[in-house]
Amino acid sequence: MRPLIYPLLLVLTASNTVNTNAAPFVPDRDTDSSQHKKETFHTPAKEAACVACHNMGGTPQNSKDSTCKTCHRQIINFRFVHGPAAVWACLSCHDEDSEQGKYAVIKPDSKLCIQCHEERMQIWAAKRYRHGPSLISCTICHDPHATDQPFRAHIKTTSHCISCHEEKASGAHLIRGFSSAGHPTGGVPDPLRPGREFTCAGCHNPHAGDTPNLLYYDNTKMNSFCTICHKK
Ligand code: HEC
Ligand code: HEC
Ligand code: HEC
Ligand code: HEC
Ligand code: HEC
Ligand code: HEC
Ligand code: HEC
Ligand code: HEC
Repeated sequence: MRPLIYPLLLVLTASNTVNTNAAPFVPDRDTDSSQHKKETFHTPAKEAACVACHNMGGTPQNSKDSTCKTCHRQIINFRFVHGPAAVWACLSCHDEDSEQGKYAVIKPDSKLCIQCHEERMQIWAAKRYRHGPSLISCTICHDPHATDQPFRAHIKTTSHCISCHEEKASGAHLIRGFSSAGHPTGGVPDPLRPGREFTCAGCHNPHAGDTPNLLYYDNTKMNSFCTICHKK
């Protein structure tokens, strides 16, 4: 616990509303430094100020009676809501009795996702190549609760891909030579998946593939890859 003291002191001295009579607040968390960035709320000391009016535990996992709802209503107030969050099954991911602190989640988050998406994740695991980021964290790209993007992506798929693959923003990808604009990566419908916008993920699987460049439809020959969409 010792390393906790230093970030804590910084927080306390930076604040000019320190109550010197109160017991010092110690975050109820482990020593992962990334978790010191933000103080956690669900500690007995802080919850004490709410219990008079709010039920702070014993949450039923359904949308009618969830006690999380009174305070966290906004978290699902977006266009695309993840199944378990939509029905307020918050505790399917947030462990009330976690040693890491109340409502902490298992890390890495893929261990969380596999509980319900095992079948799909096994398909990816069996592919020859995996996309690096998806081995580290699923929530780099997907919000576990809700967003305004399909698949609850944090931002539009193509923008997201470009945030890491900056060189692909230039538009020269694939068809440099006979078009300065490059291959379209947005703003047109996906010819193979009705109702969806065409993005980088129209050609690349963001999780895994049988070719190093993660091409969808497990295609290895460039000519026949183009004709999947560009029929003669
Ligand atoms: C004196 C009673 C009382 C206390 C103490 C209290 N609340 Fe509330 N709070 C309420 C009531 C009543 C509502 C409205 C509930 C509803 O609309 O379902 C509410 C609603 C909320 C909301 C939802 C606001 C919104 O716009 O959706 C949040 C967030 C909240 N409280 C946080 C807290 C926190 C955090 C504490 C403790 C630090 C706390 N409250 C302590 C009575 C209280
Ligand atoms: C009395 C209001 C209130 C209730 C009830 C409540 N929360 Fe919170 N919760 C907060 C506040 C305030 C924060 C800190 C601000 C934030 O991160 O949104 C918070 C933060 C969190 C966090 C981030 C980690 C932390 O501790 O700061 C998680 C996870 C969380 N709540 C889950 C839940 C779950 C799950 C439930 C239902 C079982 C729940 N909360 C019920 C008010 C509440
Ligand atoms: C599919 C798993 C999953 C479900 C279901 C889920 N959460 Fe989360 N939640 C997470 C993960 C993962 C994080 C990120 C935690 C971290 O980085 O430490 C998180 C973070 C949070 C936070 C911290 C602020 C934020 O947005 O990052 C709050 C508050 C929260 N969840 C509340 C809830 C509530 C309320 C519900 C029920 C409506 C819920 N969660 C359902 C996985 C889930
Ligand atoms: C408690 C079970 C549960 C857990 C845990 C869970 N999911 Fe889900 N997920 C569902 C259900 C149910 C659906 C289908 C309803 C929907 O689209 O929201 C779904 C759908 C999805 C979809 C959309 C799939 C599609 O074909 O449209 C994505 C993306 C997703 N989850 C990502 C995640 C990620 C990332 C995690 C881990 C952070 C996770 N899920 C953890 C239950 C879960
Ligand atoms: C690099 C960003 C990224 C990462 C990391 C990522 N995903 Fe996705 N995921 C996407 C995008 C983009 C889509 C939509 C793909 C499309 O349009 O075909 C998607 C689609 C999905 C779907 C539904 C459709 C499908 O392909 O089956 C599920 C379920 C899903 N992801 C779960 C996960 C899980 C679980 C993880 C962690 C192991 C994860 N994702 C990691 C970007 C990502
Ligand atoms: C968080 C950063 C990040 C995001 C977001 C991201 N990637 Fe990647 N991507 C990487 C890294 C790092 C590698 C190389 C390491 C690896 O895959 O093992 C990579 C590799 C790739 C490769 C294989 C490159 C090769 O040399 O064969 C393709 C294709 C790819 N990404 C496409 C995408 C697409 C499409 C998206 C959007 C759905 C995306 N990436 C989003 C970081 C990212
Ligand atoms: C029309 C299909 C298609 C679209 C759309 C597409 N790609 Fe590709 N991508 C390919 C093919 C085919 C290859 C392998 C041939 C090559 O390297 O030129 C490839 C290779 C790659 C590679 C690895 C080799 C390299 O050039 O670095 C990365 C990374 C990549 N694409 C990222 C992206 C990103 C990011 C987007 C969206 C901005 C995108 N791709 C859109 C088909 C596509
Ligand atoms: C997954 C589907 C898909 C694949 C695979 C694909 N394309 Fe495309 N391509 C599209 C879509 C969608 C458009 C936009 C059509 C429109 O504007 O209506 C497009 C447009 C084009 C254009 C016209 C560009 C412009 O500026 O109007 C060229 C050239 C092109 N593709 C070349 C290729 C080549 C070369 C390959 C193989 C490396 C390929 N495409 C693979 C879907 C695909």
